[in-house]
Amino acid sequence: MSRPSVFRVLSVISWGILGGIAVQTAAADECLVCHEMTTPGIAKQWHDSRHSDVGVECRACHQSRAGDPSAFEHNGFTITAVPSPRYCEDCHPQEVEEHSRSKHAWGAFLGPLKPYYLKAKAEGLDPERMAKTALTPLFPDSGILHKLGLLDDPTYHHNNVNLGCIECHGSFIIAEPEGRLKGWPNAGVGRINPDGSIGSCTYCHTRHGFSVAEARKPETCGQCHLGPDHPQHEIYEESKHGNIYGASGESWDWEAPAGEWGPEDIAAPTCATCHMSGFGGVVETTHEVGERLYWELQPKKSVPQWKGPDEVDLVTDRVSDLTKAESGREKMTLVCYQCHSGQWADNYFEEFDKVVADYNQIWERTDGLLQQAYDEELISRDNPLDETPEIMHYLVWHHDGRRWRMGASMMGPDWTHWNGAVDAIMNKLGTMINDIEMRRRLKAIEEKLSLASGAAGPG
Ligand code: HEC
Ligand code: HEC
Ligand code: HEC
Ligand code: HEC
Ligand code: HEC
Ligand code: HEC
Ligand code: HEC
Ligand code: HEC
Repeated sequence: MSRPSVFRVLSVISWGILGGIAVQTAAADECLVCHEMTTPGIAKQWHDSRHSDVGVECRACHQSRAGDPSAFEHNGFTITAVPSPRYCEDCHPQEVEEHSRSKHAWGAFLGPLKPYYLKAKAEGLDPERMAKTALTPLFPDSGILHKLGLLDDPTYHHNNVNLGCIECHGSFIIAEPEGRLKGWPNAGVGRINPDGSIGSCTYCHTRHGFSVAEARKPETCGQCHLGPDHPQHEIYEESKHGNIYGASGESWDWEAPAGEWGPEDIAAPTCATCHMSGFGGVVETTHEVGERLYWELQPKKSVPQWKGPDEVDLVTDRVSDLTKAESGREKMTLVCYQCHSGQWADNYFEEFDKVVADYNQIWERTDGLLQQAYDEELISRDNPLDETPEIMHYLVWHHDGRRWRMGASMMGPDWTHWNGAVDAIMNKLGTMINDIEMRRRLKAIEEKLSLASGAAGPG
């Protein structure tokens, strides 16, 4: 179970007392005297928050820590505008520790900054340039941009990276003198803070409400977990669970303290219920979002969960950890059992695992075909993402194959079948097979022609 409620009460009382002292010494007012006027929105959100109730005032988070380069002098105070998770750590050590081990916190280095991470250690490269112009499947548009001659053209800004990838994944925030910041605002999951820490808390608990109720709702996660390559929000919306949330979610109890939330409060699960919440007293709240998963469904071949960043370099070493995977499945299933019978939930997972196995089989065929096309010199290896078989190979995995597996994992039948298996097999793999066949025939014709012209030539 999560923290006992006695601790909760004590912490509320002690913070209440401290809060009282704080109000007496007018600590919050030192900032609010101006900020009620300059940023009334922030003042209002803070007043309405739990932090305000328990006396956690502006300076508790904004007074800068030693060695933070984002510190600056501000009306007699030394503050930062970017309180990183380290600023929450004294009061919320468990949440910060769990989050730092999650793939969320590593989401920039595992995502758009991966080419940078891999090379930077040795070469000290310019992160901004690396994050935009790497010729790699991480940047699916890079192959065609290269073909067009735009990949290294300084007039082309690659600004979809700034307002796309790193909005979700995070990027560097660089501190400059006098509180000036480069790369800010950014609240991507794995952003690299000026103080060197990674991650942020505000993409789920937006400031200055810092609310648990907000983080429990599926819209919070849906900001990033959507679209053609990871449509978890759309899958949820079409699932029976999402339907019930849509029909009656307004009347559920969203405010129950963490660890005390359960089936008496809600009629169907949200993203947080299955992946994070302490629920029904059978699982503890976790900020390590991988903790209840068996599979890695995003890579080309699905494998059991990888070891975490506390054990390996997550960016370079992808080592499956069967014990972690099995414990993840067990925890997830305990959540299901709160509302379903054992047979209902167990049968579901049995069917889901077979979908994963089917996808893996199709992937091996797809990958084998591409290697064969390279070996027969029907396509070239130099620009990895410009020829039709390469693009289809990418889509079978990255778009359709993910939808197929993820639809099955979260009860979205349309994503499993029509947007998943059918698009992967009939549309993409079909196109790939036919394109390769065409290239073979063309090659045969070209060889015949050159033989013929060779025979007819002088000599
Ligand atoms: C004398 C008035 C005054 C006081 C006192 C004051 N602020 Fe400010 N603060 C401002 C103004 C004005 C701005 C600029 C707002 C803008 O950029 O529109 C600002 C901006 C900020 C910013 C944003 C900085 C940026 O670069 O975006 C933060 C964070 C901040 N204040 C926090 C605090 C905290 C915390 C305190 C108390 C320790 C405090 N302020 C006290 C007037 C004040
Ligand atoms: C519980 C911690 C916490 C408390 C308390 C807090 N802040 Fe913040 N504040 C943050 C975080 C986190 C950010 C977001 C920084 C980021 O991630 O970019 C932030 C951002 C800001 C910003 C700049 C962001 C923007 O939207 O312009 C201002 C200004 C600010 N806070 C003022 C205040 C004032 C005034 C108070 C007191 C009424 C206050 N904060 C209380 C954590 C806190
Ligand atoms: C000085 C201590 C302190 C700091 C710093 C602090 N918090 Fe808190 N926070 C508290 C206390 C106390 C509570 C109330 C706990 C309770 O209800 O038992 C709380 C509650 C919360 C809650 C639950 C709110 C709810 O709706 O029940 C969230 C989320 C949260 N904090 C996030 C943060 C984040 C993110 C930061 C850093 C940006 C932060 N806190 C910094 C002390 C702090
Ligand atoms: C709308 C938000 C969003 C955007 C934009 C986005 N991503 Fe992602 N990305 C995600 C999410 C969510 C996942 C997790 C998918 C999963 O695990 O099911 C992810 C996963 C990944 C992964 C897999 C990481 C791993 O652990 O294997 C890589 C690599 C990646 N993204 C790179 C990028 C790059 C590069 C861009 C821009 C060219 C980009 N992403 C744009 C949200 C986004
Ligand atoms: C009924 C419970 C449930 C709900 C609700 C739910 N999920 Fe899941 N989710 C699962 C299960 C089960 C898996 C697969 C676990 C495994 O690997 O065995 C999964 C897998 C995932 C994955 C991992 C995909 C990968 O790449 O491996 C992500 C990301 C995810 N869910 C996000 C979300 C988001 C975002 C929402 C809400 C929009 C959500 N989930 C709602 C149960 C749920
Ligand atoms: C991916 C979304 C997400 C992120 C990021 C996130 N949280 Fe949470 N947080 C949640 C959810 C969901 C809950 C409610 C858990 C429950 O229902 O049991 C929660 C609950 C909490 C609570 C209340 C716990 C309690 O025992 O009362 C605190 C405090 C908190 N988070 C702090 C943080 C801090 C600090 C960070 C950054 C290190 C952070 N959170 C980042 C989603 C998030
Ligand atoms: C600001 C964007 C963003 C938000 C909001 C967000 N995520 Fe994520 N999430 C990501 C990205 C990016 C990744 C992929 C990280 C990676 O593997 O590089 C990810 C990965 C995950 C994973 C896979 C973890 C693993 O170990 O494989 C799960 C599960 C997940 N998120 C659940 C959630 C839930 C639940 C919420 C809401 C409570 C949420 N996320 C909110 C961006 C987001
Ligand atoms: C908070 C309660 C709750 C939790 C937790 C929960 N479910 Fe459900 N689930 C429901 C309800 C209610 C229905 C609708 C049943 C009906 O059709 O009458 C449902 C329906 C379903 C369905 C049927 C979908 C359909 O198409 O009819 C499946 C499959 C399912 N759940 C699987 C799971 C799995 C697997 C888990 C755990 C990962 C889980 N559920 C967790 C409440 C829950």
